[in-house]
Amino acid sequence: MSADRDVPFPYMRWAKRHLTGFTPSNLGMSGIAGLTPSDVVPAGPTPYWMPEGEFGDPDLRALLAAREGVPTDHVFVSAGASLANFLVVLTETRGTRGTRGAHIAVETPAYEALLRLPDAVGASLTAFRRDPARGWRLDPGSVRAAVRPNTRLIVVTDLHNPTGVRLHADDLALLLAEAERVDAAVVVDEVYREMDLTVRPTAARGHPRVIVTNSLTKAHGLGGLRIGWILAAPDRIARIAAWNDLVCPAHPVPSIAVAKAYLAQADARIAATRATIADRLERADAWVRGRPGVSWTRPDGGITGFLRLPAGTDGEAFAAFAFECHGVRVVPGAFFQAPDHVRLSFGLIPVNLDNALRALGTALDAWAARGPAA
Ligand SMILES: Cc1ncc(COP(=O)(O)O)c(C=O)c1O
Repeated sequence: MSADRDVPFPYMRWAKRHLTGFTPSNLGMSGIAGLTPSDVVPAGPTPYWMPEGEFGDPDLRALLAAREGVPTDHVFVSAGASLANFLVVLTETRGTRGTRGAHIAVETPAYEALLRLPDAVGASLTAFRRDPARGWRLDPGSVRAAVRPNTRLIVVTDLHNPTGVRLHADDLALLLAEAERVDAAVVVDEVYREMDLTVRPTAARGHPRVIVTNSLTKAHGLGGLRIGWILAAPDRIARIAAWNDLVCPAHPVPSIAVAKAYLAQADARIAATRATIADRLERADAWVRGRPGVSWTRPDGGITGFLRLPAGTDGEAFAAFAFECHGVRVVPGAFFQAPDHVRLSFGLIPVNLDNALRALGTALDAWAARGPAA
């Protein structure tokens, strides 16, 4: 983190430099390994230009709607979840006339962009706590204290990045009740939902105050396509499409063709990914439980968990040490507002995962042996 202190988004900069692929000792990745052109072949030659209307390619929109189980007019096709999140925040805080003074409440620990978006659109921010003592469930008092009369959005991830825990149904109900109280919306970033070991539908089904963002990046291995989507009530979708005219006049046509071909095999691939995750999670969980001094809440799926380090450990310094002296990469918890943690991925193939965890154990032992002055 120290090398990148002066950039506006230190985690993203760090990730672009250090989380470049599933090298054998990389315990930092958060999405599955990327698919290749031979995995997904578009139906025919792909044009480079195709008029798509204002909500995104109509066929892709319909395919996404069918897969998510929502009406087509509840879908906006976006260039990745990052732009989807930006558009939602922009739309819901600025209205159609550029209204200022809106407030956004965001979970912590949080994926960096979610905490930085309010400032980017001129809105104020209050973070509400997820509670490690309750398996990273929301702290209800913190949620209630964060929501104000001018709160327009309440933002969470599901699965939660970095911990990999599911958004508990009672916590979503709490968020919806708070949103109802101040006439706000609940944003659920679901880029990891389909990696939950329990199959469950999008939160967008049946909740007019829920806005879901998602993409083909994390669970599907197609981040390079830059294909994402927003699920919301049609009036919100119409307003989002209007603001999209400012930032994204067209979407990448070759990516749309690949995405359509991919969606025909998405269910089978996700099922296979879940089976893989189950095995690797078991290995990682056994490693954590076998190590004195560290702990985590066992993730509900995904490929990341949040490892609490021995008391007093500076996660950033330890992560640098683990990489420089033992070749194993983990993500400093400071990027997620928890400096005594590191984010640990279990997405590697088993032989590499076992070796990398062993190396991480050696790094922890060596760190402890250096003593408090280290
Ligand atoms: C919670 C969350 N949302 C969105 C993104 C970005 O997704 P995309 O590649 O679709 O822009 C990430 C990437 O790390 C993420 O963790």
